[in-house]
Amino acid sequence: MKPLLGTIYLLGMLVPWGLGYDRSRAQHSQEAVDKTVTPSRSLETYSYDRYHPMEEIYQWMSQISKQYTEVVTQNFLGMTYEARPMYYLKISLPSNNPKKIIWMDCGIHSREWIAPAFCQWFVKEVLQNYKDNSKIRRFLMNLDFYVLPVLNIDGYIYSWTTDRLWRKSRSSHNNGTCFGTDLNRNFNASWCSIGASKNCTDLTFCGTGPVSEPETKAVSSFIESKKEDIVCYLTMHSYGQLILLPYGYTKNKTSNYEELIQVGQKAANALKAKHGTNYKVGSSTDILYASSGSSRDWARDIGIPFSYTFELRDNGTHGFLLPEAQIQATCEETMAAVLSVLDDVYEKHWYSNSAVKMTSSTMVLSLLMCFMCFL
Ligand SMILES: *[C@@H]1O[C@H](CO)[C@@H](O)[C@H](O)[C@H]1NC(C)=O
Ligand SMILES: *[C@@H]1O[C@H](CO)[C@@H](O)[C@H](O)[C@H]1NC(C)=O
Ligand SMILES: *[C@@H]1O[C@H](CO)[C@@H](O)[C@H](O)[C@H]1NC(C)=O
Ligand SMILES: *[C@@H]1O[C@H](CO)[C@@H](O)[C@H](O)[C@H]1NC(C)=O
Ligand SMILES: *[C@@H]1O[C@H](CO)[C@@H](O)[C@H](O)[C@H]1NC(C)=O
Ligand SMILES: [Zn+2]
Repeated sequence: MKPLLGTIYLLGMLVPWGLGYDRSRAQHSQEAVDKTVTPSRSLETYSYDRYHPMEEIYQWMSQISKQYTEVVTQNFLGMTYEARPMYYLKISLPSNNPKKIIWMDCGIHSREWIAPAFCQWFVKEVLQNYKDNSKIRRFLMNLDFYVLPVLNIDGYIYSWTTDRLWRKSRSSHNNGTCFGTDLNRNFNASWCSIGASKNCTDLTFCGTGPVSEPETKAVSSFIESKKEDIVCYLTMHSYGQLILLPYGYTKNKTSNYEELIQVGQKAANALKAKHGTNYKVGSSTDILYASSGSSRDWARDIGIPFSYTFELRDNGTHGFLLPEAQIQATCEETMAAVLSVLDDVYEKHWYSNSAVKMTSSTMVLSLLMCFMCFL
């Protein structure tokens, strides 16, 4: 790192956003530096309304965990087929309460670029607002957010370099004659029974067995190891404007179907209130199609009560090629929907039974303590 760049970076770390920090001047110097050195963008100028190649997302993860060391850690999850590291971000405030976990992953299908864009937006929103926004603060007293910004990293890179509409991973099959497993058909939920293919040339190739792929394995083993604490599993896709609940592999309804529909419908209403976008809510079999081996169904099957797939914008006009001009509005409305889900999960978990009364007083105490930590 050149000294000048180092200084700008340090400045960025020391001066909180929006407090008289001369952004345009920093940007100017940054551009000058970028002409001679490999581009190393500062977090201050990171555009959340653009799509970013994987290299920039890696850099973003590392920068955000350095800038917000007290709340974010970057953690190793596993390696992809092509031997790239997968990291998730853990957003967590110190608290004496036993915490529950919200999991969110994005980009299991590589061509759905709006999904990783949303994961980054979500992290940014939480970090920029947790000190002042009482709702986000309240969540963070009892919940940790685990965010995997790009699940299918090999596929995502391939969609940038070679084939914009690539969906699957990049594992090699049939002696190197065909590539890629649909990672969202590879989870251990009625694997390859319906809406999936055993032919590796197909878009919905389910892999050579349940959890045959390293990416699926990394996510499954981690979630399995934390499943007692995970209260909500969210997986972000595009497109179709749908909030999908289990199941895709059967017409049977999950035991808390009514509750999932209500929470989902409320989220769709919150979403619509933002920019008027219409979403449908229902099980995958009912409103989309049958599919086996999805992460959402698997998460519900191992006992995670709230499990949803979000199919973000649009409704077919641009499909997977959602213009960058729509990233901001899409992320704003999706944020409203996700916060609505979290509201309900939070209420149901902490205020629907008697075990809770005890936690309330501890909560007030730790709230006080934490104000002191972060002043
Ligand atoms: C796999 O491909 C290699 C090189 O193309 C070939 O030599 C080999 O015979 C193939 N193996 C099988 C089992 O088809
Ligand atoms: C899949 O789940 C079943 C139980 O439903 C279990 O018996 C089996 O070992 C699991 N397979 C893998 C590969 O995890
Ligand atoms: C897989 O699908 C391709 C393309 O449709 C077809 O040519 C091939 O015969 C299929 N392979 C098998 C084993 O069915
Ligand atoms: C659906 O429910 C029926 C009746 O409870 C049960 O026999 C069947 O195994 C279920 N199917 C699946 C795929 O879970
Ligand atoms: C998407 O468009 C189709 C066809 O125009 C329409 O039937 C469907 O209701 C729309 N979905 C939503 C969520 O607006
Ligand atoms: Zn998808």
